[in-house]
Amino acid sequence: MEKKERLDKVVSNMGFGTRSQVKKYIRKGMVTVNGEVELNNSLRLDPYKNKIFFNGQDVNYREHIYLLMNKPQGFVSSTEDPSSRTVIEILEYEHQIFDPFPVGRLDKDTEGLLLISNDGKLAHELLSPKNRVDKVYFAEVLGKVEKEHIDVFKKGVTLDDGYKTLPADLEIIESGTVSKINLTIHEGKFHQVKRMFESIGMEVIYLQRTRMGPLELEGYLEPGEYRELSEDEIEMLKSF
Ligand code: URA
Repeated sequence: MEKKERLDKVVSNMGFGTRSQVKKYIRKGMVTVNGEVELNNSLRLDPYKNKIFFNGQDVNYREHIYLLMNKPQGFVSSTEDPSSRTVIEILEYEHQIFDPFPVGRLDKDTEGLLLISNDGKLAHELLSPKNRVDKVYFAEVLGKVEKEHIDVFKKGVTLDDGYKTLPADLEIIESGTVSKINLTIHEGKFHQVKRMFESIGMEVIYLQRTRMGPLELEGYLEPGEYRELSEDEIEMLKSF
């Protein structure tokens, strides 16, 4: 379906200035459409089908953005917070202008894979409990995680508020005074991984999300770094 938008709105929405600034820029001849200077700021066009440049720079119009971040510790997964830095503050201006939000939450002291987007429909699909999207966490746990715990988590454990968790897959990487594990869960209750270990008398001392549905945390993304998803990854996510 053809989607027509005003030229000044398209250029402004992509962060090149306020609507009134962009109107002036257009009148000055700073915007080209398909290689020709366009002076009419109220021109209606399909921004996906026309090549729009501002001052020689590709306007690269898109309605939604999808960012994969390796969330660092010390940042909260929300758009605003009165006392803490938020993951949104990490983003470049060119991404902040899309008004993105974190798709789901990681605790302030949890690291790892966080999807940040402004696509409410996709966020709803990924977070809806009925879709049971897998989430994989790596954790360091105080105490000896034993083989028996694999069965305990498989059957589901009862959290401090009486909620019985869905079956979860526990993989023991190292068992000792501090154990290293991977845990796959299919739901997202508040502090779920920490509370699951609390229910067996153990404390999570480090937590990192390594996977969410088809998205994996890649080694080259340092905590605090992020990248845009490719078209293929977005498609995969939508059809997941
Ligand atoms: N479970 C937790 O306990 N914390 C997180 O941040 C994510 C899952």
